[in-house]
Amino acid sequence: MTIEVRQLRKVYPGGVEAVRGINFDVGAGEVFGLLGPNGAGKSTTIGMLTTTIAPTSGTARLAGFDVAREPIAARAASSVVFQEPVVDRGFSGRGNLELHARLWGVAGDRIGDLIDAFGLAGIVDRPVEGYSGGERRRLEIARALVSEPRVLFLDEPTVGLDPRIRHELLDVIAGLRAQTEMTVLVTTHYLDEAERLCDRIAIMHEGEIVALDTPERLLEGLGQAIVELRLENGNAPAALAPLRAQGIAGDDAFTVGSTLTIPLHEHTAAQAIAAVDAAGVRTRSISTREPTLDDVYLRLTGASLADAA
Ligand SMILES: Nc1ncnc2c1ncn2[C@@H]1O[C@H](COP(=O)(O)OP(=O)(O)O)[C@@H](O)[C@H]1O
Ligand SMILES: [Mg+2]
Repeated sequence: MTIEVRQLRKVYPGGVEAVRGINFDVGAGEVFGLLGPNGAGKSTTIGMLTTTIAPTSGTARLAGFDVAREPIAARAASSVVFQEPVVDRGFSGRGNLELHARLWGVAGDRIGDLIDAFGLAGIVDRPVEGYSGGERRRLEIARALVSEPRVLFLDEPTVGLDPRIRHELLDVIAGLRAQTEMTVLVTTHYLDEAERLCDRIAIMHEGEIVALDTPERLLEGLGQAIVELRLENGNAPAALAPLRAQGIAGDDAFTVGSTLTIPLHEHTAAQAIAAVDAAGVRTRSISTREPTLDDVYLRLTGASLADAA
């Protein structure tokens, strides 16, 4: 395994337990997502894996190197694009790439390929301080690849970008998957992003991993379709009982506030709606839709990822 995390834990001075003993493995060439709202512990996890934050306990290995005991070797195997900007704003884009190549003792001829791959040709000779958010991100990712890392860490790569630029950047990141040898660990609080980019996703909530699987398998657990009932205040338990009795709602049905969410496995949406009618339950609205990762998160934590983010 390229990344091996065992019982990894971080308690910050002052007592915040940001990461509570997490475990996961990431294989060579895999794109692995840490998905969770702000404060879930994603950046702290990346910090520990990139040796900038000392774990309180537990271990993490990168390409076989223990991040606490062999930090220099672990760092040499990886590159990171942090959530906060790190490029030198006084330099041009090319200057940043060349500086990085010198720091790593890498031949500069790789830079030309990266400039092309990341669509930087038109801007690379301008000072970075004039770059838009999306341009800066592309430069940062190109810079991280100068050293040909075995593991690339991307912490919230699209945060703060407008939707069109965000999608352009997602295409760029999706293109990294073609580099089959490189392992990528990406954090995000955007569900669509995790679903689109990642081979597997760990859903993080308050310092713990509450689910870990491929996007397909995470969604599969929620059946073919979801029926959502908006009910009068406090009515959700009363509505759920008859649906459970008829086997339409299973153990995976859940309520949040006045919304009852029912993953359908054996029944159709029409059957579910008919049963609600027959039970005389007063609803404000009924809708049917496909399951999303937000449902997975909601069911596990009772909170909406979209709202929490
Ligand atoms: N340097 C720090 N000192 C104390 N608490 C911190 C520090 N950095 C992060 N935290 C806390 O740790 C928790 C996890 O934060 P973080 O890892 O940044 O989450 P995420 O990246 O998922 O938003 C939060 O409660 C945050 O306030
Ligand atoms: Mg973060």
